[in-house]
Amino acid sequence: MCYILKRASRIFVAVHGQAKRVLVGTRWLMVCRKAHTAHVLSYWHTSSTQYTVKCIDPSSGAIVGMGMWDVYISPSDYTKSDIGWLEGAERERAEALVGPFWAFREKLWKNERYVYCHLTAVHPDYQRKGIGKLLMEYGMRIAEQVDLPIYTEASRAAIGLYESIGFRRLKQSIVHKADVLWAGNEKGDGKDYEVPLVVWIPGRKLELLPKSIELA
Ligand SMILES: CC(C)(COP(=O)(O)OP(=O)(O)OC[C@H]1O[C@@H](n2cnc3c(N)ncnc32)[C@H](O)[C@@H]1OP(=O)(O)O)[C@@H](O)C(=O)NCCC(=O)NCCS
Repeated sequence: MCYILKRASRIFVAVHGQAKRVLVGTRWLMVCRKAHTAHVLSYWHTSSTQYTVKCIDPSSGAIVGMGMWDVYISPSDYTKSDIGWLEGAERERAEALVGPFWAFREKLWKNERYVYCHLTAVHPDYQRKGIGKLLMEYGMRIAEQVDLPIYTEASRAAIGLYESIGFRRLKQSIVHKADVLWAGNEKGDGKDYEVPLVVWIPGRKLELLPKSIELA
């Protein structure tokens, strides 16, 4: 289990370093890796809703992709938490970036029954081989079985995948402001960054969506 966690954590860090390099610097990754791994481990041990799936390269045994899903068959009691593994300015910046994800999730889905795609991540060396789609299909089959919509926030890297498999954008979206996003990162393009919020609805049954949700 520990081995799986360490490998999974490396993929998580590797892909976050790639897709969200604008959000995090190398130093931040090194500092937070240990504490964040402990946080995730504790969540995995106590959560009654989360399902973690890994994709293995059979030729090497390496974990090359992972997905984390929360399945709320009973109404979600999710409330936003805080980033206890960081401190000071880094914590403030992380909360400015991640906080809106948590706030929207609570606002749109509290007391609702749904499936949340916490993350999908494929190691950079293995991308564009169908692994991300496979990981998403795992959650889509669960959503079909329990007849509930899937909700997630789309990274710039993932929106193409999500739309190619039938996810739809909400009218609501999150905008990461450039001053927070690019703080201390000279390689950034200095622009605001829109994060689309998306849903996948089994059988396209719109009545499965909460009233608070408006499709774009
Ligand atoms: C998003 C991610 C999981 C996609 O994984 P992947 O294994 O490369 O995706 P797939 O190979 O299954 O892609 C399936 C289809 O999705 C679409 N797609 C995938 N990545 C895309 C991209 N970067 N741009 C446009 N379309 C894309 C394509 O239609 C692709 O089919 P094709 O390769 O035949 O054209 C991967 O890029 C990743 O881990 N990114 C960093 C982490 C991240 O942003 N995760 C999501 C939010 S937590």
